Amino acid sequence: MNSQTILTGLFGHPVGHSLSPLMHNRAFAELGVNFHYAAFDIDPGQVREAVAAIRALGLRGVNVTIPYKVAVMDYLDEVEEEAKAIGAVNTIVNEGGKLIGYNTDGRGFVRSLIEETGIDVKRQSAILVGAGGAARGVAVSLLRAGLPSLAIANRTEEKAERLAEQLQAMNPQARIAALPMKEIADALTDATLLVQTTSIGMHPNIDASPVAAEALHERLLVSDLIYNPLETKLLRDAKEKGARIHHGLGMFIYQGALSFEYWTGQPAPVEAMRKAVSDALY
Ligand code: ATR
Repeated sequence: MNSQTILTGLFGHPVGHSLSPLMHNRAFAELGVNFHYAAFDIDPGQVREAVAAIRALGLRGVNVTIPYKVAVMDYLDEVEEEAKAIGAVNTIVNEGGKLIGYNTDGRGFVRSLIEETGIDVKRQSAILVGAGGAARGVAVSLLRAGLPSLAIANRTEEKAERLAEQLQAMNPQARIAALPMKEIADALTDATLLVQTTSIGMHPNIDASPVAAEALHERLLVSDLIYNPLETKLLRDAKEKGARIHHGLGMFIYQGALSFEYWTGQPAPVEAMRKAVSDALY
């Protein structure tokens, strides 16, 4: 770093375990650009001041993580359409003092899914497990990428129903419905894509899965947003049944890659970013 360094970073609370600084600083080094990425642990009462500081200090932009992805939206000059549809911002770009909010989570997922499995989203019939923030981001972006059919199953069924209604209103061309959890097994018979967005199966509860192994089959692509562990119980079961699998690391890498591209205007060195994170995690 020197007096010319362009600053970026992460706003969240806590941020101490985030791998984003490592991933982005590795990417800046790979491209030889004079940028730096720092982690800022923001106090819950200081969100407005933190956003104003992007302008005051001339940061190029920041990522935003839990618990501020919704709260920062009130203090931005503009929020891009997809971030509005998701209802959350994970990337802020400072365009000469004008702060613009984006959301790269859902698009990061879709790009990872396409790059890593080669599937055609427009030809899938999908079941989504979960109806929280992550599910919403993934669903919005899959539908914008042309997914024609989506069923949403969630422990709290009213949340799945509400999300399905909202998504249907935004995507009249698609077939969208809520699905009771107990009907997942039956519905899977005709599905081609299963996306798991809850924390079930995350370290340390690595033997938990929200879907019975018997319901999985070889015509499915099973995607789990979790990346610790890399292969969840759901993905291990899916593999055993002959299904193709897609794990959550790519979503993390590509959401970062898209943020990186907004800030630097250059294609992100995705494989160097993936290696930096893999080396730290596994
Ligand atoms: P995120 O941003 O990671 O999506 P979130 O918005 O808090 O986090 O959503 C968590 C999701 O995981 C929800 O769909 C939640 O189900 P509920 O709506 O019923 O709470 C789901 N989830 C978390 N723990 C779960 C568990 N033990 N069993 C079933 N679902 C769970």
